[in-house]
Amino acid sequence: LRALRRPPAPQPLGPSPSATALHPPPLPHPQPARKGRPGPAAGSARESLELKDIFIAVKTTRKYHRSRLDLLLQTWISQARGQTFIFTDWEDRELRLKAGDHMINTNCSAVHTRQALCCKMSVEYDKFLESGQKWFCHVDDDNYVNPRTLLHLLSAFSHSQDVYVGRPSLDHPIEAADHVQSDGSKTTVKFWFATGGAGFCISRGLALKMSPWASLGNFISTAERVRLPDDCTIGYIIEGLLEVKLLHSPLFHSHLENLQRLQGESVLQQVTLSYGDPENKHNVVSVGGVFGLQQDPTRFKSVHCLLYPDTIWCPAKKMS
Ligand SMILES: *[C@@H]1O[C@H](CO)[C@@H](O)[C@H](O)[C@H]1NC(C)=O
Repeated sequence: LRALRRPPAPQPLGPSPSATALHPPPLPHPQPARKGRPGPAAGSARESLELKDIFIAVKTTRKYHRSRLDLLLQTWISQARGQTFIFTDWEDRELRLKAGDHMINTNCSAVHTRQALCCKMSVEYDKFLESGQKWFCHVDDDNYVNPRTLLHLLSAFSHSQDVYVGRPSLDHPIEAADHVQSDGSKTTVKFWFATGGAGFCISRGLALKMSPWASLGNFISTAERVRLPDDCTIGYIIEGLLEVKLLHSPLFHSHLENLQRLQGESVLQQVTLSYGDPENKHNVVSVGGVFGLQQDPTRFKSVHCLLYPDTIWCPAKKMS
């Protein structure tokens, strides 16, 4: 894992190094710093974790099926088809043809409100529990997921441990009014949460413990009670209620960071990437040599061709 994090990733919004920073257990054999992109060896797992053990939920909405989802299907999802599920709010025939039963119509509202977003997270969680897979990873429809580095990261843990890993969106924990005491005073709880826009993962062991507050619609009532968005509510359940600490990882990235600071080889060593929205379209990772900005404004196609140069639509031979 150490090799994966070199050169150090920029952490414009990351926390200052703290006691809860991600320190995976040491590797079984001392490994020399590996140069270049993570090869097949990146998946050598002590738990011999395989990609099929990971459930990847992509949250999207009707209006982004063409503009965002198509790009993901063409790039990283093509390398993780079996374990990726698309959670949306519209029965789209075209998407159904491409994704089959890996498109899940949550029947949640398409509006961008706390209730609608929590409704989707609740369906994601239930589908994960149903799947029997070892890890639940949630990402947004503007995330590139690197399946190899994701596998490598999660291989450092056991799925039966309590693991919640992702990027905190703030540099301090948030505080929420927990519940009202009988005398009318409120108790508050402080906790960190992983920003949903950068993606995060939860082990099955921990997900099972979340069940009283998260399964079968309970997630929505938990979020309503604390009046928090979906990703904060996950943090509230895990840190606030179950007292399990978020492992802060610099390998997850959302559009809220300065993505231009991610350059060259280190781009290929991250677990997730993102890109700026139309008002901020220059906020993309810096990778050169494959496609120009015009052809690949998000840089996801370029990243994909560097990771998977044999992809049919990638330029014939790798550049240096
Ligand atoms: C959404 O509604 C359809 C039609 O009633 C149903 O088949 C499907 O299972 C529902 N989706 C979920 C996630 O409950």
